[in-house]
Amino acid sequence: MRRSSDPRPEIADESAWWRDAVFYQVYVRSFADSDSDGVGDLDGVRSRLGYLELLGVDALWLTPFYPSPMADHGYDVADPRDVDPLFGDLAAFDRLVAQAHEHDIRVTVDLVPNHTSDRHEWFRAALRSAPGSHERERYFFRDGRGHAGEQPPNNWTSVFGGPAWTRVPDGQWYLHLFAPEQPDLNWEHPDVPADLARTLRFWLDRGVDGFRVDVAHGMAKPRGLPDMDPRAAVPGVLHDNAVDPRFDNDAVHEVHRMIRKVVDEYPGRMAIGEVWVKEDERFARYVRPDELHLGFNFRLVQAPFDADAVRAAVEHSLAAVQPHGTPPTWTLSNHDVTRHVTRYGGGSLGVRRARAMALVQLALPGVVYLYNGEELGLPNVELPDWALQDPTWLRSGRTERGRDGCRVPLPWEGDAPPFGFTAGAGTWLPQPGDWAGLTVESQLEDPGSVLSFYRQALELRRSHGAISGDEVEWYGAPAGCFAFRRKGGGLICALNTSGGPVPLPPGEVLLSSGPMDDNRLPPDTAVWLV
Ligand code: GLC
Ligand code: MG
Repeated sequence: MRRSSDPRPEIADESAWWRDAVFYQVYVRSFADSDSDGVGDLDGVRSRLGYLELLGVDALWLTPFYPSPMADHGYDVADPRDVDPLFGDLAAFDRLVAQAHEHDIRVTVDLVPNHTSDRHEWFRAALRSAPGSHERERYFFRDGRGHAGEQPPNNWTSVFGGPAWTRVPDGQWYLHLFAPEQPDLNWEHPDVPADLARTLRFWLDRGVDGFRVDVAHGMAKPRGLPDMDPRAAVPGVLHDNAVDPRFDNDAVHEVHRMIRKVVDEYPGRMAIGEVWVKEDERFARYVRPDELHLGFNFRLVQAPFDADAVRAAVEHSLAAVQPHGTPPTWTLSNHDVTRHVTRYGGGSLGVRRARAMALVQLALPGVVYLYNGEELGLPNVELPDWALQDPTWLRSGRTERGRDGCRVPLPWEGDAPPFGFTAGAGTWLPQPGDWAGLTVESQLEDPGSVLSFYRQALELRRSHGAISGDEVEWYGAPAGCFAFRRKGGGLICALNTSGGPVPLPPGEVLLSSGPMDDNRLPPDTAVWLV
Protein backbone atom coordinates (compact mmCIF):
# COMPACT_ATOMS: atom_id res chain seq x y z
CA MET A 1 0.00 0.00 0.00
CA ARG A 2 1.26 3.49 -0.75
CA ARG A 3 2.43 5.40 2.33
CA SER A 4 0.26 8.41 3.05
CA SER A 5 3.37 10.59 2.75
CA ASP A 6 3.92 9.54 -0.86
CA PRO A 7 3.09 12.15 -3.48
CA ARG A 8 -0.34 11.14 -4.77
CA PRO A 9 -0.39 10.52 -8.45
CA GLU A 10 -3.88 11.60 -9.55
CA ILE A 11 -5.78 8.81 -11.26
CA ALA A 12 -3.66 9.55 -14.32
CA ASP A 13 -1.94 6.20 -13.89
CA GLU A 14 -4.41 4.51 -16.18
CA SER A 15 -2.30 1.40 -16.29
CA ALA A 16 -3.34 0.59 -12.73
CA TRP A 17 -7.02 1.42 -13.21
CA TRP A 18 -8.10 -1.56 -11.09
CA ARG A 19 -6.57 -0.28 -7.86
CA ASP A 20 -9.80 1.43 -6.80
CA ALA A 21 -12.25 0.08 -9.35
CA VAL A 22 -15.79 -1.08 -8.72
CA PHE A 23 -16.26 -4.39 -10.50
CA TYR A 24 -19.65 -5.88 -11.21
CA GLN A 25 -19.88 -9.65 -11.36
CA VAL A 26 -22.17 -10.77 -14.15
CA TYR A 27 -23.38 -14.31 -13.61
CA VAL A 28 -23.99 -14.63 -17.32
CA ARG A 29 -26.72 -17.31 -17.07
CA SER A 30 -28.79 -15.04 -14.87
CA PHE A 31 -28.24 -11.50 -16.07
CA ALA A 32 -30.23 -11.03 -19.29
CA ASP A 33 -31.40 -13.35 -22.06
CA SER A 34 -31.32 -12.20 -25.70
CA ASP A 35 -32.54 -15.32 -27.51
CA SER A 36 -35.59 -16.34 -25.49
CA ASP A 37 -34.20 -19.65 -24.25
CA GLY A 38 -34.51 -18.62 -20.61
CA VAL A 39 -30.74 -18.56 -20.08
CA GLY A 40 -28.77 -15.33 -19.96
CA ASP A 41 -26.15 -14.79 -22.68
CA LEU A 42 -23.51 -12.41 -24.03
CA ASP A 43 -25.86 -10.40 -26.26
CA GLY A 44 -28.09 -10.09 -23.21
CA VAL A 45 -25.25 -8.51 -21.27
CA ARG A 46 -24.55 -6.19 -24.18
CA SER A 47 -28.18 -5.10 -24.31
CA ARG A 48 -27.90 -3.90 -20.70
CA LEU A 49 -24.64 -1.95 -20.89
CA GLY A 50 -26.60 1.29 -20.64
CA TYR A 51 -27.88 0.13 -17.27
CA LEU A 52 -24.41 -0.77 -16.04
CA GLU A 53 -23.14 2.64 -17.06
CA LEU A 54 -26.05 4.30 -15.25
CA LEU A 55 -25.27 2.25 -12.17
CA GLY A 56 -21.71 3.53 -12.33
CA VAL A 57 -19.46 0.49 -12.33
CA ASP A 58 -15.99 0.49 -13.84
CA ALA A 59 -15.57 -3.09 -14.95
CA LEU A 60 -17.34 -6.40 -15.40
CA TRP A 61 -16.34 -9.90 -14.40
CA LEU A 62 -18.12 -12.37 -16.66
CA THR A 63 -18.50 -15.88 -15.23
CA PRO A 64 -17.54 -18.71 -17.64
CA PHE A 65 -19.25 -18.69 -21.05
CA TYR A 66 -16.96 -21.27 -22.66
CA PRO A 67 -18.14 -24.52 -24.29
CA SER A 68 -19.22 -26.74 -21.44
CA PRO A 69 -21.57 -29.59 -20.63
CA MET A 70 -22.64 -27.33 -17.70
CA ALA A 71 -22.20 -29.88 -14.95
CA ASP A 72 -21.12 -26.91 -12.80
CA HIS A 73 -22.75 -24.23 -14.97
CA GLY A 74 -19.67 -23.52 -17.00
CA TYR A 75 -16.93 -24.07 -14.41
CA ASP A 76 -16.46 -27.36 -16.24
CA VAL A 77 -14.74 -26.03 -19.34
CA ALA A 78 -14.51 -28.24 -22.43
CA ASP A 79 -12.72 -25.62 -24.55
CA PRO A 80 -11.31 -22.51 -22.90
CA ARG A 81 -10.91 -20.61 -26.17
CA ASP A 82 -14.43 -20.51 -27.53
CA VAL A 83 -17.99 -19.55 -26.57
CA ASP A 84 -20.72 -22.03 -25.76
CA PRO A 85 -23.66 -21.69 -28.20
CA LEU A 86 -25.90 -21.27 -25.16
CA PHE A 87 -24.19 -17.93 -24.51
CA GLY A 88 -23.45 -16.82 -28.08
CA ASP A 89 -20.29 -17.05 -30.15
CA LEU A 90 -16.93 -15.32 -30.48
CA ALA A 91 -18.48 -12.57 -32.59
CA ALA A 92 -20.97 -11.87 -29.79
CA PHE A 93 -18.08 -11.73 -27.34
CA ASP A 94 -16.18 -9.26 -29.54
CA ARG A 95 -19.29 -7.09 -29.86
CA LEU A 96 -19.71 -7.07 -26.12
CA VAL A 97 -16.12 -6.05 -25.42
CA ALA A 98 -16.16 -3.32 -28.06
CA GLN A 99 -19.44 -1.82 -26.83
CA ALA A 100 -18.52 -2.11 -23.16
CA HIS A 101 -15.38 -0.13 -23.91
CA GLU A 102 -17.49 2.51 -25.65
CA HIS A 103 -19.42 2.79 -22.39
CA ASP A 104 -16.11 3.09 -20.55
CA ILE A 105 -16.63 -0.25 -18.86
CA ARG A 106 -13.81 -2.75 -18.79
CA VAL A 107 -14.33 -6.47 -19.26
CA THR A 108 -12.67 -9.28 -17.35
CA VAL A 109 -13.28 -12.99 -17.83
CA ASP A 110 -13.02 -16.12 -15.73
CA LEU A 111 -10.12 -18.57 -16.05
CA VAL A 112 -10.53 -22.11 -14.71
CA PRO A 113 -7.00 -23.54 -14.47
CA ASN A 114 -7.51 -26.11 -11.69
CA HIS A 115 -9.59 -28.51 -13.75
CA THR A 116 -11.25 -29.11 -17.09
CA SER A 117 -14.54 -30.66 -18.05
CA ASP A 118 -14.58 -34.42 -18.45
CA ARG A 119 -15.57 -33.63 -22.06
CA HIS A 120 -12.36 -31.67 -22.71
CA GLU A 121 -10.39 -33.34 -25.50
CA TRP A 122 -7.51 -34.06 -23.11
CA PHE A 123 -9.68 -35.96 -20.69
CA ARG A 124 -11.39 -37.89 -23.44
CA ALA A 125 -7.99 -38.88 -24.75
CA ALA A 126 -6.94 -39.88 -21.22
CA LEU A 127 -9.94 -42.17 -20.90
CA ARG A 128 -9.11 -43.83 -24.22
CA SER A 129 -5.48 -44.36 -23.19
CA ALA A 130 -3.82 -46.91 -20.96
CA PRO A 131 -2.76 -46.40 -17.35
CA GLY A 132 0.64 -44.71 -17.28
CA SER A 133 0.20 -43.12 -20.72
CA HIS A 134 1.23 -39.57 -21.53
CA GLU A 135 -2.47 -38.69 -21.93
CA ARG A 136 -3.24 -39.71 -18.36
CA GLU A 137 -0.31 -37.70 -17.02
CA ARG A 138 -2.14 -34.43 -17.66
CA TYR A 139 -4.55 -35.38 -14.88
CA PHE A 140 -4.25 -37.39 -11.66
CA PHE A 141 -4.90 -41.04 -12.46
CA ARG A 142 -3.89 -43.45 -9.70
CA ASP A 143 -4.42 -47.04 -8.67
CA GLY A 144 -6.73 -47.52 -5.72
CA ARG A 145 -5.94 -48.79 -2.26
CA GLY A 146 -7.10 -51.96 -0.56
CA HIS A 147 -8.18 -55.25 -2.08
CA ALA A 148 -8.09 -55.02 -5.91
CA GLY A 149 -7.69 -51.25 -5.62
CA GLU A 150 -11.32 -50.84 -4.70
CA GLN A 151 -10.68 -47.99 -2.28
CA PRO A 152 -9.83 -44.48 -3.54
CA PRO A 153 -6.10 -43.62 -3.57
CA ASN A 154 -6.47 -41.26 -0.59
CA ASN A 155 -9.17 -39.87 1.69
CA TRP A 156 -9.66 -36.50 -0.04
CA THR A 157 -13.21 -35.28 -0.29
CA SER A 158 -14.73 -33.21 -3.06
CA VAL A 159 -15.74 -29.65 -2.20
CA PHE A 160 -19.19 -30.60 -3.48
CA GLY A 161 -19.41 -33.64 -1.18
CA GLY A 162 -18.40 -37.29 -1.51
CA PRO A 163 -14.97 -38.64 -2.39
CA ALA A 164 -12.65 -36.61 -4.63
CA TRP A 165 -11.98 -39.72 -6.73
CA THR A 166 -13.96 -41.52 -9.41
CA ARG A 167 -13.07 -44.92 -10.81
CA VAL A 168 -12.82 -45.59 -14.54
CA PRO A 169 -13.57 -48.96 -16.20
CA ASP A 170 -9.94 -50.15 -16.26
CA GLY A 171 -9.82 -49.81 -12.47
CA GLN A 172 -7.82 -46.62 -12.05
CA TRP A 173 -9.19 -43.59 -10.22
CA TYR A 174 -8.97 -39.92 -11.20
CA LEU A 175 -8.94 -36.91 -8.92
CA HIS A 176 -11.59 -34.19 -8.89
CA LEU A 177 -11.69 -31.68 -6.06
CA PHE A 178 -15.08 -30.57 -7.38
CA ALA A 179 -17.62 -32.61 -9.39
CA PRO A 180 -16.58 -35.86 -11.16
CA GLU A 181 -17.17 -33.92 -14.39
CA GLN A 182 -14.29 -31.59 -13.35
CA PRO A 183 -11.09 -33.67 -13.34
CA ASP A 184 -8.11 -31.88 -11.76
CA LEU A 185 -5.23 -30.99 -14.05
CA ASN A 186 -1.67 -32.02 -13.23
CA TRP A 187 0.24 -28.74 -13.21
CA GLU A 188 3.56 -30.55 -13.35
CA HIS A 189 2.80 -31.63 -16.89
CA PRO A 190 4.31 -29.09 -19.32
CA ASP A 191 1.25 -29.06 -21.59
CA VAL A 192 -0.85 -27.59 -18.81
CA PRO A 193 0.93 -24.24 -18.25
CA ALA A 194 1.60 -23.95 -21.98
CA ASP A 195 -2.09 -24.27 -22.69
CA LEU A 196 -3.05 -21.71 -20.04
CA ALA A 197 -0.60 -19.21 -21.52
CA ARG A 198 -2.25 -19.76 -24.89
CA THR A 199 -5.68 -19.16 -23.36
CA LEU A 200 -4.50 -15.96 -21.67
CA ARG A 201 -3.12 -14.58 -24.91
CA PHE A 202 -6.21 -15.65 -26.83
CA TRP A 203 -8.48 -13.46 -24.68
CA LEU A 204 -5.93 -10.67 -24.20
CA ASP A 205 -5.63 -10.41 -27.97
CA ARG A 206 -9.42 -10.09 -28.16
CA GLY A 207 -9.20 -7.07 -25.87
CA VAL A 208 -10.15 -8.30 -22.40
CA ASP A 209 -8.95 -6.12 -19.54
CA GLY A 210 -8.23 -8.93 -17.14
CA PHE A 211 -9.05 -12.25 -15.56
CA ARG A 212 -10.58 -13.74 -12.48
CA VAL A 213 -8.65 -16.89 -11.63
CA ASP A 214 -10.92 -19.64 -10.33
CA VAL A 215 -9.67 -21.64 -7.33
CA ALA A 216 -6.38 -19.75 -7.37
CA HIS A 217 -5.38 -21.63 -4.21
CA GLY A 218 -5.85 -24.96 -6.02
CA MET A 219 -3.80 -26.34 -8.90
CA ALA A 220 -0.63 -27.49 -7.13
CA LYS A 221 -0.89 -30.81 -5.31
CA PRO A 222 1.65 -32.19 -2.84
CA ARG A 223 3.85 -35.06 -3.98
CA GLY A 224 2.44 -38.38 -2.88
CA LEU A 225 -1.03 -36.93 -2.36
CA PRO A 226 -1.03 -37.46 1.43
CA ASP A 227 -4.31 -37.95 3.28
CA MET A 228 -6.13 -34.90 4.60
CA ASP A 229 -7.29 -34.33 8.15
CA PRO A 230 -10.96 -35.29 7.76
CA ARG A 231 -11.92 -32.40 10.04
CA ALA A 232 -10.77 -30.01 7.30
CA ALA A 233 -13.57 -31.15 5.02
CA VAL A 234 -16.05 -28.50 6.13
CA PRO A 235 -17.61 -26.79 3.11
CA GLY A 236 -17.42 -23.01 2.74
CA VAL A 237 -14.49 -22.37 5.07
CA LEU A 238 -11.17 -20.70 4.42
CA HIS A 239 -8.65 -23.44 3.76
CA ASP A 240 -5.83 -24.11 6.14
CA ASN A 241 -2.90 -25.78 4.46
CA ALA A 242 -1.64 -27.05 7.80
CA VAL A 243 -4.46 -29.61 7.88
CA ASP A 244 -5.67 -29.66 4.30
CA PRO A 245 -3.16 -30.73 1.62
CA ARG A 246 -5.72 -30.28 -1.16
CA PHE A 247 -5.23 -26.52 -1.40
CA ASP A 248 -2.69 -23.72 -1.02
CA ASN A 249 0.43 -25.70 -1.80
CA ASP A 250 3.58 -23.70 -2.37
CA ALA A 251 4.08 -24.75 -5.97
CA VAL A 252 0.91 -22.89 -6.95
CA HIS A 253 2.89 -19.66 -6.87
CA GLU A 254 4.80 -20.71 -9.95
CA VAL A 255 1.49 -20.77 -11.78
CA HIS A 256 0.65 -17.26 -10.64
CA ARG A 257 4.06 -15.98 -11.65
CA MET A 258 3.48 -17.43 -15.08
CA ILE A 259 0.02 -15.82 -15.32
CA ARG A 260 1.47 -12.48 -14.21
CA LYS A 261 4.23 -12.61 -16.80
CA VAL A 262 1.83 -13.16 -19.65
CA VAL A 263 -0.73 -10.61 -18.45
CA ASP A 264 2.00 -8.00 -18.02
CA GLU A 265 2.98 -8.35 -21.66
CA TYR A 266 -0.24 -6.40 -22.26
CA PRO A 267 -0.28 -2.96 -20.60
CA GLY A 268 -3.19 -2.14 -18.33
CA ARG A 269 -4.46 -5.70 -17.86
CA MET A 270 -4.91 -7.44 -14.53
CA ALA A 271 -5.70 -10.71 -12.79
CA ILE A 272 -7.50 -11.39 -9.52
CA GLY A 273 -7.42 -14.75 -7.81
CA GLU A 274 -10.11 -16.52 -5.83
CA VAL A 275 -8.12 -17.28 -2.69
CA TRP A 276 -9.98 -19.13 0.08
CA VAL A 277 -7.01 -19.21 2.42
CA LYS A 278 -7.20 -18.78 6.15
CA GLU A 279 -3.89 -17.32 7.28
CA ASP A 280 -3.13 -13.72 6.33
CA GLU A 281 0.52 -14.57 5.63
CA ARG A 282 -0.49 -17.39 3.30
CA PHE A 283 -2.94 -15.07 1.52
CA ALA A 284 -0.26 -12.40 1.15
CA ARG A 285 1.86 -14.70 -0.99
CA TYR A 286 -0.71 -14.67 -3.79
CA VAL A 287 -0.44 -10.92 -4.24
CA ARG A 288 3.33 -10.55 -4.28
CA PRO A 289 4.49 -8.07 -6.91
CA ASP A 290 5.23 -10.82 -9.42
CA GLU A 291 2.00 -12.77 -8.80
CA LEU A 292 -1.67 -11.79 -8.97
CA HIS A 293 -2.58 -8.10 -9.15
CA LEU A 294 -5.40 -8.68 -6.68
CA GLY A 295 -6.71 -11.42 -4.42
CA PHE A 296 -10.34 -12.00 -3.58
CA ASN A 297 -10.80 -11.87 0.08
CA PHE A 298 -13.84 -13.50 1.63
CA ARG A 299 -13.62 -12.11 5.14
CA LEU A 300 -16.62 -9.81 4.70
CA VAL A 301 -18.63 -12.69 3.28
CA GLN A 302 -17.91 -14.64 6.43
CA ALA A 303 -18.48 -11.85 8.95
CA PRO A 304 -21.89 -11.54 10.62
CA PHE A 305 -23.55 -8.13 10.82
CA ASP A 306 -21.64 -7.05 13.88
CA ALA A 307 -19.28 -4.08 14.11
CA ASP A 308 -16.51 -5.98 15.90
CA ALA A 309 -16.64 -8.88 13.46
CA VAL A 310 -16.70 -6.55 10.45
CA ARG A 311 -13.83 -4.51 11.83
CA ALA A 312 -11.80 -7.67 12.44
CA ALA A 313 -12.54 -8.78 8.87
CA VAL A 314 -11.39 -5.42 7.55
CA GLU A 315 -8.21 -5.48 9.60
CA HIS A 316 -7.34 -9.02 8.50
CA SER A 317 -7.96 -8.09 4.89
CA LEU A 318 -5.75 -5.04 5.13
CA ALA A 319 -3.02 -6.95 6.94
CA ALA A 320 -3.03 -9.63 4.26
CA VAL A 321 -2.25 -7.22 1.42
CA GLN A 322 -0.21 -4.62 3.29
CA PRO A 323 3.20 -6.30 2.90
CA HIS A 324 3.09 -6.03 -0.86
CA GLY A 325 1.29 -2.74 -1.44
CA THR A 326 -1.57 -4.57 -3.10
CA PRO A 327 -5.01 -2.97 -2.86
CA PRO A 328 -7.50 -4.91 -0.74
CA THR A 329 -10.72 -6.19 -2.31
CA TRP A 330 -14.18 -6.15 -0.74
CA THR A 331 -16.96 -8.58 -1.52
CA LEU A 332 -20.27 -9.12 0.22
CA SER A 333 -21.80 -11.69 -2.13
CA ASN A 334 -21.04 -13.79 -5.16
CA HIS A 335 -22.49 -16.75 -7.05
CA ASP A 336 -21.22 -19.24 -4.45
CA VAL A 337 -22.69 -17.84 -1.24
CA THR A 338 -26.09 -16.97 0.22
CA ARG A 339 -26.98 -13.40 -0.72
CA HIS A 340 -26.13 -11.03 2.11
CA VAL A 341 -29.63 -9.58 2.45
CA THR A 342 -30.60 -13.05 3.61
CA ARG A 343 -27.42 -13.65 5.64
CA TYR A 344 -28.16 -10.46 7.58
CA GLY A 345 -31.62 -11.61 8.59
CA GLY A 346 -33.71 -11.25 5.44
CA GLY A 347 -36.78 -9.11 4.89
CA SER A 348 -36.63 -5.40 5.53
CA LEU A 349 -34.06 -5.88 8.30
CA GLY A 350 -31.74 -7.73 5.91
CA VAL A 351 -32.13 -4.98 3.31
CA ARG A 352 -31.46 -2.26 5.89
CA ARG A 353 -28.28 -3.99 7.00
CA ALA A 354 -27.21 -4.69 3.42
CA ARG A 355 -27.49 -0.99 2.62
CA ALA A 356 -25.40 -0.18 5.68
CA MET A 357 -22.71 -2.67 4.66
CA ALA A 358 -22.66 -1.24 1.14
CA LEU A 359 -21.55 2.08 2.61
CA VAL A 360 -18.83 0.33 4.60
CA GLN A 361 -17.61 -1.60 1.59
CA LEU A 362 -17.61 1.43 -0.70
CA ALA A 363 -15.80 3.65 1.82
CA LEU A 364 -12.87 1.28 2.28
CA PRO A 365 -9.68 1.73 0.29
CA GLY A 366 -9.14 -0.57 -2.66
CA VAL A 367 -11.35 -2.57 -4.94
CA VAL A 368 -15.04 -3.43 -4.66
CA TYR A 369 -16.78 -6.37 -6.27
CA LEU A 370 -20.57 -6.20 -6.54
CA TYR A 371 -22.54 -9.30 -7.44
CA ASN A 372 -25.35 -8.81 -9.92
CA GLY A 373 -28.63 -8.18 -8.13
CA GLU A 374 -27.15 -6.91 -4.91
CA GLU A 375 -27.71 -3.38 -6.19
CA LEU A 376 -31.42 -4.33 -6.27
CA GLY A 377 -31.38 -5.70 -2.73
CA LEU A 378 -32.27 -9.18 -3.96
CA PRO A 379 -32.64 -11.83 -1.26
CA ASN A 380 -31.61 -15.45 -1.64
CA VAL A 381 -34.49 -17.45 -3.08
CA GLU A 382 -35.92 -20.55 -1.42
CA LEU A 383 -36.30 -22.73 -4.49
CA PRO A 384 -38.44 -25.85 -4.64
CA ASP A 385 -36.52 -29.14 -4.73
CA TRP A 386 -37.47 -29.82 -8.34
CA ALA A 387 -35.77 -26.62 -9.49
CA LEU A 388 -32.39 -27.22 -7.85
CA GLN A 389 -29.46 -27.88 -10.20
CA ASP A 390 -26.28 -27.21 -8.25
CA PRO A 391 -23.89 -30.19 -8.04
CA THR A 392 -23.72 -29.59 -4.29
CA TRP A 393 -27.39 -30.54 -4.04
CA LEU A 394 -27.04 -33.52 -6.30
CA ARG A 395 -23.85 -34.85 -4.70
CA SER A 396 -24.86 -34.36 -1.09
CA GLY A 397 -27.70 -36.80 -1.56
CA ARG A 398 -30.06 -33.82 -1.69
CA THR A 399 -29.26 -32.56 1.78
CA GLU A 400 -27.19 -29.43 1.02
CA ARG A 401 -29.42 -27.09 -0.97
CA GLY A 402 -26.44 -25.60 -2.78
CA ARG A 403 -25.96 -22.26 -4.49
CA ASP A 404 -28.94 -21.96 -6.84
CA GLY A 405 -30.79 -19.59 -4.49
CA CYS A 406 -28.33 -16.77 -5.19
CA ARG A 407 -28.38 -17.38 -8.96
CA VAL A 408 -32.01 -16.67 -9.82
CA PRO A 409 -32.37 -14.56 -13.01
CA LEU A 410 -32.55 -10.81 -12.48
CA PRO A 411 -35.87 -8.93 -12.57
CA TRP A 412 -35.74 -6.07 -15.09
CA GLU A 413 -39.29 -4.85 -15.56
CA GLY A 414 -42.97 -5.69 -15.45
CA ASP A 415 -45.32 -7.21 -12.91
CA ALA A 416 -44.75 -10.93 -13.23
CA PRO A 417 -42.05 -13.47 -14.09
CA PRO A 418 -39.96 -13.46 -16.22
CA PHE A 419 -39.76 -9.74 -15.37
CA GLY A 420 -38.15 -8.82 -18.68
CA PHE A 421 -35.26 -11.24 -18.20
CA THR A 422 -36.28 -13.14 -21.32
CA ALA A 423 -38.83 -12.83 -24.10
CA GLY A 424 -39.33 -16.57 -23.75
CA ALA A 425 -41.76 -18.31 -21.46
CA GLY A 426 -39.56 -19.54 -18.64
CA THR A 427 -36.29 -18.85 -16.87
CA TRP A 428 -33.67 -21.51 -16.08
CA LEU A 429 -34.39 -21.08 -12.37
CA PRO A 430 -37.87 -19.90 -11.40
CA GLN A 431 -38.19 -16.31 -10.18
CA PRO A 432 -40.42 -15.54 -7.20
CA GLY A 433 -43.79 -14.11 -8.22
CA ASP A 434 -43.47 -11.16 -5.85
CA TRP A 435 -40.42 -9.44 -7.32
CA ALA A 436 -42.35 -6.67 -9.14
CA GLY A 437 -41.16 -4.13 -6.56
CA LEU A 438 -37.54 -5.20 -7.02
CA THR A 439 -37.25 -4.74 -10.79
CA VAL A 440 -34.69 -2.36 -12.24
CA GLU A 441 -37.50 -0.41 -13.88
CA SER A 442 -39.47 0.14 -10.68
CA GLN A 443 -36.37 0.97 -8.66
CA LEU A 444 -34.99 3.47 -11.15
CA GLU A 445 -38.15 5.52 -10.69
CA ASP A 446 -37.99 5.41 -6.90
CA PRO A 447 -35.39 7.71 -5.28
CA GLY A 448 -35.67 5.68 -2.06
CA SER A 449 -34.90 2.32 -3.71
CA VAL A 450 -31.82 0.22 -3.09
CA LEU A 451 -30.80 0.81 -6.70
CA SER A 452 -31.04 4.60 -6.38
CA PHE A 453 -29.02 4.35 -3.18
CA TYR A 454 -26.27 2.36 -4.94
CA ARG A 455 -26.18 4.85 -7.80
CA GLN A 456 -25.74 7.71 -5.35
CA ALA A 457 -23.11 5.88 -3.33
CA LEU A 458 -21.12 4.94 -6.42
CA GLU A 459 -21.25 8.49 -7.70
CA LEU A 460 -20.12 9.93 -4.37
CA ARG A 461 -17.39 7.33 -4.14
CA ARG A 462 -16.05 8.61 -7.43
CA SER A 463 -16.29 12.27 -6.53
CA HIS A 464 -15.11 11.91 -2.90
CA GLY A 465 -11.78 10.30 -2.81
CA ALA A 466 -12.18 6.83 -4.19
CA ILE A 467 -8.62 7.55 -5.17
CA SER A 468 -7.25 8.93 -1.97
CA GLY A 469 -6.25 7.46 1.33
CA ASP A 470 -5.01 3.89 1.21
CA GLU A 471 -4.83 3.43 4.97
CA VAL A 472 -7.65 3.15 7.44
CA GLU A 473 -7.78 5.16 10.63
CA TRP A 474 -10.27 4.01 13.31
CA TYR A 475 -12.04 6.32 15.71
CA GLY A 476 -13.36 5.56 19.16
CA ALA A 477 -17.01 4.50 18.89
CA PRO A 478 -19.76 3.18 21.19
CA ALA A 479 -20.08 -0.59 21.69
CA GLY A 480 -21.51 -2.28 18.63
CA CYS A 481 -20.34 0.55 16.37
CA PHE A 482 -17.28 1.67 14.49
CA ALA A 483 -16.13 4.72 12.61
CA PHE A 484 -13.19 5.01 10.26
CA ARG A 485 -11.64 7.38 7.84
CA ARG A 486 -9.18 6.78 5.06
CA LYS A 487 -5.99 8.60 5.94
CA GLY A 488 -5.58 11.33 3.40
CA GLY A 489 -9.19 11.06 2.30
CA GLY A 490 -11.88 13.21 3.83
CA LEU A 491 -14.79 10.89 4.30
CA ILE A 492 -15.76 9.27 7.60
CA CYS A 493 -17.86 6.12 7.59
CA ALA A 494 -19.74 5.09 10.74
CA LEU A 495 -21.67 1.86 11.25
CA ASN A 496 -24.12 1.05 14.01
CA THR A 497 -24.85 -2.63 14.69
CA SER A 498 -25.86 -2.07 18.30
CA GLY A 499 -29.53 -2.39 19.18
CA GLY A 500 -30.23 1.32 19.63
CA PRO A 501 -29.38 4.77 18.28
CA VAL A 502 -25.96 6.28 19.03
CA PRO A 503 -24.56 9.81 18.75
CA LEU A 504 -23.18 10.69 15.32
CA PRO A 505 -19.52 11.54 14.93
CA PRO A 506 -19.04 15.22 14.09
CA GLY A 507 -19.41 16.21 10.47
CA GLU A 508 -21.94 16.80 7.75
CA VAL A 509 -23.94 13.80 6.53
CA LEU A 510 -23.15 13.12 2.92
CA LEU A 511 -25.17 9.92 2.58
CA SER A 512 -26.90 7.58 4.98
CA SER A 513 -28.02 4.04 4.35
CA GLY A 514 -31.42 4.67 5.93
CA PRO A 515 -33.53 7.34 7.63
CA MET A 516 -31.64 9.39 10.23
CA ASP A 517 -32.79 10.28 13.69
CA ASP A 518 -31.70 13.92 14.22
CA ASN A 519 -28.13 13.82 15.39
CA ARG A 520 -28.18 10.14 16.12
CA LEU A 521 -27.25 7.15 14.02
CA PRO A 522 -30.08 4.61 14.17
CA PRO A 523 -29.36 0.88 14.55
CA ASP A 524 -28.62 -1.18 11.41
CA THR A 525 -27.51 1.98 9.67
CA ALA A 526 -24.29 3.42 8.29
CA VAL A 527 -23.45 6.93 7.27
CA TRP A 528 -20.84 8.88 5.33
CA LEU A 529 -19.79 12.18 6.83
CA VAL A 530 -17.49 14.93 5.66
C1 GLC B 1 -15.04 -21.63 -7.79
C2 GLC B 1 -16.29 -21.06 -8.41
C3 GLC B 1 -17.42 -22.00 -8.20
C4 GLC B 1 -17.06 -23.31 -8.86
C5 GLC B 1 -15.74 -23.85 -8.36
C6 GLC B 1 -15.22 -24.95 -9.24
O1 GLC B 1 -15.15 -21.73 -6.41
O2 GLC B 1 -16.53 -19.78 -7.91
O3 GLC B 1 -18.63 -21.51 -8.69
O4 GLC B 1 -18.07 -24.25 -8.60
O5 GLC B 1 -14.76 -22.86 -8.36
O6 GLC B 1 -14.79 -24.43 -10.47
MG1 MG C 1 -30.18 -17.06 -23.96
